[in-house]
Amino acid sequence: MDPTLMESMLNLLPYAVDLVAVLLLALGIKGLAKVRSARSANGLAALALGLAVLGLLIELQPPPLAWAAIAAGAAAGGLPGLLMARRVPMTAMPQTVALFNGCGGLASLLVAVGVALFGAGGGAEAGAALVERLSIAISVFVGAITFTGSLVAMAKLEGWIDTPAWTQSRLRHGVNIALAVAALVGVVALPADPGGAPLWLLLVASSLLGVGVTLPIGGADMPVVISLLNSYSGVAAAAAGFVVGSQLLIVAGAMVGAAGLILTQVMCTAMNRSLLSVLFGGALGASAGGGAKAGGEDGGYSRITSCSPEECALALECAERVVFVPGYGLAVAQAQHALSELAKLLQANGTEVSYAIHPVAGRMPGHMNVLLAEADVPYEQLVEMDAINPEFPRTDVVIVLGANDVVNPDAKTDSTSPLFGMPVLEVDQARQVFVVKRSLGAGYAGIRNALFELPQTAMLFGDAKAVLNGLLSELRELGVGRVKTAA
Ligand code: TAP
Repeated sequence: MDPTLMESMLNLLPYAVDLVAVLLLALGIKGLAKVRSARSANGLAALALGLAVLGLLIELQPPPLAWAAIAAGAAAGGLPGLLMARRVPMTAMPQTVALFNGCGGLASLLVAVGVALFGAGGGAEAGAALVERLSIAISVFVGAITFTGSLVAMAKLEGWIDTPAWTQSRLRHGVNIALAVAALVGVVALPADPGGAPLWLLLVASSLLGVGVTLPIGGADMPVVISLLNSYSGVAAAAAGFVVGSQLLIVAGAMVGAAGLILTQVMCTAMNRSLLSVLFGGALGASAGGGAKAGGEDGGYSRITSCSPEECALALECAERVVFVPGYGLAVAQAQHALSELAKLLQANGTEVSYAIHPVAGRMPGHMNVLLAEADVPYEQLVEMDAINPEFPRTDVVIVLGANDVVNPDAKTDSTSPLFGMPVLEVDQARQVFVVKRSLGAGYAGIRNALFELPQTAMLFGDAKAVLNGLLSELRELGVGRVKTAA
């Protein structure tokens, strides 16, 4: 082959690899939208990022010594990531996501600072210099906010820090405005002196601003903030992409930024919060609002009916239509497999079974979908809130499993409730409701649940897994499933 042609092809190789990576990444992100394809889509996106690194290495052709540094960097980031992904329980996923967002922000920030100090950017020539320097400023600004904000969010969710009292005063707005102005001065001044004082002013002010805006936000609103920080990490990565001239980073960052923003909006709607009230209202967490608080050992309830697994099993045996409502407690109990087994047994008995999925049930978006997919529950049986609500009046038995806030009827009727306005699963419309939980304790919002006192409700106290296993034994003793299978 003509050596010149060969050389041109070799020169084009990194771009070709980048292009394939971009396509795979887009396909991966698209696949993540469906539970069925999410696992393979995740693998596809990871492969895309691996290809991106490969493309960069082909393009840069680092000297031998640099390989050691690259390998050490990959091991330092990759090994803890791998260990964490394997060990973190599902219930700690929001904190983990927050930490990963923070790492994304830090990486973009470090790339931008590195280029600002040592000028190793790919787009630094002539007219591109201003764009590169502005990109450095944006990457440092957004990356630093993302990094420190995410660390605060993680520490709050993990219970390491509380919301300090001073952050509830108006003083915090003054402090945050002053920090934002200082950061803006850094952004404007940086292009003239990329490696000098403006860079450090911007870095310090933005880092403090990340802490300042996240610290006052209460636990109930934290998921919205994490989703927003996820979007920021995408914006920081896209800006870093402009700094180093990487198309892939720009595309990936823009996709993450847009997806994070859409998710934030979806969560705000589902939790009946406005984004502005989350960001500027401070701890407007549900437990900080009004409404009837859960109190005392009996939760302040007076008309509670409790029942045994045997009674519940009898109701299930006769029911033609059963709806399961999974919530956070199901994840805590890791009872998804027992639930799937119970559902199969009932179906073998001829019962119509479905699962009602509330958009914010659990502790992260899609929590219940992921949990039930793990137990091979058919996707068609998962019914979204808007579709299942009209079905409750014709439902014989609803079993609420470790869910609380998402089935609280006060959200529709009590204007003083912190949940007021949040769309809920209208299980109170069903003929019979069994609520499986360990006590009369409150859910995430820290308030009473009027559902527990309704005449059609019976409490089935216990750990969700133990109760489900008890129900399975009772139903088997009654011959449920066996009778129909034989028939
Ligand atoms: P919650 O309202 O938090 O209620 C969970 C219930 O599970 C508790 O009342 C608890 O009662 C029970 N429980 C805990 N461990 C259990 C176990 N081993 N066995 C049986 N029950 C157990 O959950 P939800 O209805 O899913 O609502 C989610 C809440 O979290 C909403 O307020 C939502 O806004 C908020 N939130 C959602 C997200 C996202 S994005 N999904 C993120 C953060 C916060 P006992 O202690 O009595 O057992």
